[in-house]
Amino acid sequence: MKIGIPKEIKNHEYRVGATPGMVRALVEAGHCVVVQSNAGLAVGFSDEEYELAGGQIALSAEEVYLSEMIIKVKEPQESEFSLLKEGQILFCYLHLAPDPYQTEQLIKKKVIAIAYETVTDAHGRLPLLIPMSEIAGRIAVQVGANYLQMNQGGKGLLLGGVPGVLGARVVIIGGGIVGTEAARMALGLGARVVILDKDLHRLRQLDALFGPALRTLYSSSHHIDEMIAHADLLIGSVLLPGKKAPKLITETMIERMGEGSVFVDVAIDQGGCSETSRPTTHDDPIYKWNGVIHYCVTNMPGAVAKISTMALTNATMDYVLLLANHGWKRALLNHKGLRDGLNVALGNVTNASVAYDLNYEYVVPESVC
Ligand SMILES: NC(=O)c1ccc[n+]([C@@H]2O[C@H](COP(=O)([O-])OP(=O)(O)OC[C@H]3O[C@@H](n4cnc5c(N)ncnc54)[C@H](O)[C@@H]3O)[C@@H](O)[C@H]2O)c1
Repeated sequence: MKIGIPKEIKNHEYRVGATPGMVRALVEAGHCVVVQSNAGLAVGFSDEEYELAGGQIALSAEEVYLSEMIIKVKEPQESEFSLLKEGQILFCYLHLAPDPYQTEQLIKKKVIAIAYETVTDAHGRLPLLIPMSEIAGRIAVQVGANYLQMNQGGKGLLLGGVPGVLGARVVIIGGGIVGTEAARMALGLGARVVILDKDLHRLRQLDALFGPALRTLYSSSHHIDEMIAHADLLIGSVLLPGKKAPKLITETMIERMGEGSVFVDVAIDQGGCSETSRPTTHDDPIYKWNGVIHYCVTNMPGAVAKISTMALTNATMDYVLLLANHGWKRALLNHKGLRDGLNVALGNVTNASVAYDLNYEYVVPESVC
């Protein structure tokens, strides 16, 4: 199969969909890999390394997009839609539920769009979202701590305080991968941390993992309201896989946070979990809403692109090989978890949550394979 690796063009997106190691594995399996010139340069992979691994360097995105399968990181940007071809496999993050325009483009183009974030494993986990969530959870606390500083417009708090002075109060809504890693970082820095989740089993696991240092609370609008009123740093990390994020945080709740408090809405890639959230970029990452600093960057792991590229491609490697070796129809029919990743195929919406949120007819993936 001919496989294309384009250079990412989203704002401050330096990750790349394939390392030279992945290219080598694909070439050894008999495939032809075309890598756009400088696609991996920012994360330390030169064109020469890709060539040594057996890849071919293309000077333009147009050339790369002639391939049967495109492996990339973020969803296609405006200038990339016109390059997509009917029947082409597109394997990357898509986050379609909050993005009707992109969904419409992928339907029109009749591509086979497989979203990293809805691929599942045998335990129902999201193996291609997990590594980026681990990173985003950790970054959430780093950026939160930074914006709490007075020179950044924050309240002037140090997360851990100092002997004799209490540290900041951190409230995390959603105790999955992002929430767990955010809790780990915030506790490590000495903050007072509460985590809310609807899943009691998950709260028990978190309790066992962190012990009494972490306070856990069942997530209801009443509890969220109570906790947010006292939060210095609020982190939004809920997920209903494939669906738009639920708006658990209202304008009134945010209004009650003090001037210079910080809200990091990691769930912004699924539309955000607050009425006050709107997507931002690494170029212009924050805005203030009623005095509360909002950080809503949709590609947070792009900020640590070297680590993110390695962590992502470690996870995608086996799925990429499966698609390349067997073709999308056989690969999807034989692998339920990969089939769960199919969001749009040949003009049909094949993910139930996306179809429901965007009002499309849902077509079962098996019927298009
Ligand atoms: N902005 C970025 O750059 C970036 C990067 C990585 C991940 N993310 C996003 O972060 C979000 C979280 O990802 P994750 O991997 O941690 O997901 P996850 O599935 O591991 O965890 C989500 C948690 O939310 C909980 N939840 C669901 N409804 C809830 C409610 N009403 N109240 C409280 N908790 C609730 C679930 O029980 C689950 O524990 C996703 O939207 C993901 O796409 C964003």
